[in-house]
Amino acid sequence: MGPTAKMTLWIMCFLCIVTPFLEAARILAIISVPSYSHQVAFQSLWTALSRRGHELVVLTTDPVNDPSITNLTEIDLHDSYNTLKGANHVKGMEQYTWVALERNIFFSIGHTLTENIYKHSEVRKMYAPDSDQKFDVVIVEIVKTPGLYPLAHRFNAPLIGISSIGLYSHNYYLFGAPVLPSHPSNWEMGKATGFNLSLWQRLNNFIQQWYHLYCVLNHFYPEQQAIAEKYLGKNIPDINDMERNISIMIHTQQEAISFIRPITPNIITFGNFHVSKKPPALSKDLNKFLADAPNGFIYMSLGTNIHMSHFSKHLLNAFHDTFASLPCKIVWKMDIKLTNKSDNIYIAKWLPQQSLLAHPKIRLFIYQGGLQSTEEAIYNAVPLIGLPILADQFTHINKMVSLGVAKYLNYQDISKEIVNESITDILNDKRYKERMLKLKARNEDKPYNLLENTIWWIEFVIRHKGASHLHSTIADDPWYQRYDMDIVAIFSLAICVTLICTLVIIYKLLKIIFNRNTKNQVDVSKKIN
Ligand SMILES: *[C@@H]1O[C@H](CO)[C@@H](O)[C@H](O)[C@H]1NC(C)=O
Ligand SMILES: *[C@@H]1O[C@H](CO)[C@@H](O)[C@H](O)[C@H]1NC(C)=O
Ligand SMILES: *[C@@H]1O[C@H](CO)[C@@H](O)[C@H](O)[C@H]1NC(C)=O
Ligand SMILES: *[C@@H]1O[C@H](CO)[C@@H](O)[C@H](O)[C@H]1NC(C)=O
Ligand SMILES: *[C@@H]1O[C@H](CO)[C@@H](O)[C@H](O)[C@H]1NC(C)=O
Repeated sequence: MGPTAKMTLWIMCFLCIVTPFLEAARILAIISVPSYSHQVAFQSLWTALSRRGHELVVLTTDPVNDPSITNLTEIDLHDSYNTLKGANHVKGMEQYTWVALERNIFFSIGHTLTENIYKHSEVRKMYAPDSDQKFDVVIVEIVKTPGLYPLAHRFNAPLIGISSIGLYSHNYYLFGAPVLPSHPSNWEMGKATGFNLSLWQRLNNFIQQWYHLYCVLNHFYPEQQAIAEKYLGKNIPDINDMERNISIMIHTQQEAISFIRPITPNIITFGNFHVSKKPPALSKDLNKFLADAPNGFIYMSLGTNIHMSHFSKHLLNAFHDTFASLPCKIVWKMDIKLTNKSDNIYIAKWLPQQSLLAHPKIRLFIYQGGLQSTEEAIYNAVPLIGLPILADQFTHINKMVSLGVAKYLNYQDISKEIVNESITDILNDKRYKERMLKLKARNEDKPYNLLENTIWWIEFVIRHKGASHLHSTIADDPWYQRYDMDIVAIFSLAICVTLICTLVIIYKLLKIIFNRNTKNQVDVSKKIN
């Protein structure tokens, strides 16, 4: 028996143990964001569910196309990548605040993605009025396409939300969890959050976060609703209410590696699903390059969404010149060819990241802070340098820095000296690696297997047609009631009125006393005269 067959058998045995077994169900899953990391985060979940005997229809921009997996139908949404084609996230970060980026760019991308899915010929066939397709549960990526929730209504199935990057504040708000405008867990706020913020910054964040929430609930969601109504008819529930009523929400915020915040019990944590315990071997070329690396190597990659060709020449040189001066080797994922490349650098457009991170000679990973890459780095205990550009990257790097396993490079403030100092600091300080090993141990020490737990919850929702017992009534309260804002307002008003009354009384009393005194004085002076 080969290792793959053994592994498969092992997984099958393990999955059969997940209790209690349930009749095979039909599951519809839609992962709409055209980004490799969003897709790869869930692939093993779909595989495992289908191996449990369920029948899956998965709408994905990156199908696995593995013929050995039965009962997994993938509908290819690869065309959605066109919506992000040519996106320059570096420029976006330089030109916009996070709210402006959401309002001016991401809202309309969300609309295009939702519309593309409803328009897809195979999807149309599925939800057409005369279609006999039935599903027992509908799983939707909640990031940018809430307009797809009504598909659950169409199939009369409970709705599950899923996210590979954590939740937005407006998701927390709709579930009844607190909105915390300046907490470092607010990934959508990019570099606006962090530690020890000044009162001014917190005031700013408060206004921006609530303004964003207002825009999402009063503009983005109604526009998504309109798209859904265009394809499913007017007779569908409000997507706002559907999200409030969502059965469970599966997200990737493993406690050991993310900022802890209060959440509702319908939010289920998963993570590391895509991390390979035995990544494939390196290519001959790379193996040859790394064979002669007595001082190890540094791996640099900014993921699939950030392109180094969007970087300034100054920035590229800061990295290249520092790399050239180092005694170790560098493996660099890059979309441009350097004319004057130093011999200790290996450049490629695509690299087997997990195989490189698992390589015994790796000493440091320079990356953009994506969550899936962070999980891979922690699994392989590789110290990090983060250069965040987009979305949740800032939050993850802040967390890694706070755990003492990473350094933060600020894009606006990069020079040869700064890059060199960050790299040499980590290479010369053993504590980064030691803390990484401790973090890995803590992250992997859990009372249950996350994949098993997630499957259990999905099957729970199927068995009970939802999980309404996890719904908090806070989700139904208006904002001012949730935070007792009306009561704070009453007290503030009462204090104000009392203060004003007191001041008026004091003023009147002083006036009377003063008047009497002057009158007395006048009387006295009259007498003297
Ligand atoms: C595929 O799913 C259907 C419906 O859930 C089930 O009846 C069938 O046994 C499954 N087939 C396999 C090979 O697992
Ligand atoms: C925040 O402030 C506290 C108290 O002054 C300090 O101990 C801590 O190191 C600061 N954190 C950061 C990340 O600067
Ligand atoms: C949400 O749940 C409540 C309580 O169960 C129900 O009355 C309401 O119709 C539901 N709304 C939607 C849109 O599912
Ligand atoms: C080429 O690289 C070397 C060493 O990195 C550097 O000294 C030289 O100035 C570079 N030449 C050009 C034309 O960039
Ligand atoms: C980088 O820093 C190290 C240690 O501080 C120093 O020895 C080295 O000369 C620096 N290299 C460059 C290219 O500045």
